[in-house]
Amino acid sequence: MRAARVEAYGGPDRVVIREIPDPEARAGQLVVDIEAAALNFPDVLTIADKYQISTALPFTPGSEFAGRVSAVGENVTAFRVGDRVMGSTGAGAFAEKICVPEDAVSAIPDGLDMIHAAGFRVTYLTAYHSLVTVGDVASGDWVVVLGAAGGVGTATVDLAARLGARVIAAASTAERVQTCLDLGAHEGIAYDEEDLKSRIKEITGGGADLVVDPVGGRYTEQALRAIRWGGAFVTVGFAAGEIPRIPLNLVLLKNVLVRGVELRTMGTHRPDATRQATRAMSDLVARGMAPLVTDVFTLDDVSKALGLVAERKATGKVVIEMRVT
Ligand SMILES: NC(=O)c1ccc[n+]([C@@H]2O[C@H](COP(=O)([O-])OP(=O)(O)OC[C@H]3O[C@@H](n4cnc5c(N)ncnc54)[C@H](OP(=O)(O)O)[C@@H]3O)[C@@H](O)[C@H]2O)c1
Repeated sequence: MRAARVEAYGGPDRVVIREIPDPEARAGQLVVDIEAAALNFPDVLTIADKYQISTALPFTPGSEFAGRVSAVGENVTAFRVGDRVMGSTGAGAFAEKICVPEDAVSAIPDGLDMIHAAGFRVTYLTAYHSLVTVGDVASGDWVVVLGAAGGVGTATVDLAARLGARVIAAASTAERVQTCLDLGAHEGIAYDEEDLKSRIKEITGGGADLVVDPVGGRYTEQALRAIRWGGAFVTVGFAAGEIPRIPLNLVLLKNVLVRGVELRTMGTHRPDATRQATRAMSDLVARGMAPLVTDVFTLDDVSKALGLVAERKATGKVVIEMRVT
């Protein structure tokens, strides 16, 4: 099969296309013929060996995919050859086939094609856990989403609006904010052009009920300072590259609840919450919810696709189409 390969750590231009042997399913595993794979920011960190978990060379990058089951190993009970599935994994998705444990995939809800299914699972599950599982969002809440035009950001804006929250989308430029307003955000802040803290306070009156932060860096403290008494802050990632250090008096003085979400471990520690998220989102997909996919590349152009994300130029989800459906 054809696969993207990282043979030396570095930037997107170091990723090459190679012919490698097809994978085979062992007990508890299945092989998926991938039709589309989606990019996530951690892919950029993984190929540069800057992610929390190091992946040994050589490897196939890519952490999210959709396709059809083409082989099942012994003891696989939930899926059969031909099933439409979407899945997430540490690496291996930028290839024509992948072999994963059966619990790494779920059935594609009716209403999602392969391109949109590929870009659904990571961002929408992260958004659901941030807003609902730990964020305890209620209808009418003011929810601020940082990095709102990115993959996690657009999913969080979309889901929060569908859950009845009043969404403030914060992104670097007015154009990126407009994308979020088109998705259902009620208000927008261009944080590289406007003062984030004072604009949140101005819009909400008493401060935000909940902030979801996949960006970190200098934006975190500004947003935290704009939370109301008793509000909540959910940290999801550090796309800006800097892990912020927060003066704890800001948390104490306003009784703010600070929580983290990490999708990889949430599945292990809170399988109940993941099942609940999957059920709730299937219902929303049936009512038209789908990720915003803005760019579709072929496998040969995987470096260009990774470059868009690495250079902060991506909006919504970037997808690699492996086969034409
Ligand atoms: N906790 C979890 O389980 C989980 C799951 C998935 C992803 N994540 C994390 O969530 C973050 C977002 O992931 P994603 O896939 O949504 O990425 P993405 O699509 O690239 O979005 C990241 C956003 O961050 C903003 N940003 C600000 N400074 C940036 C910089 N220096 N470089 C790049 N982006 C910058 C960008 O928006 P503006 O230009 O508009 O500011 C961009 O849209 C990443 O840190 C990722 O590791 C965490």
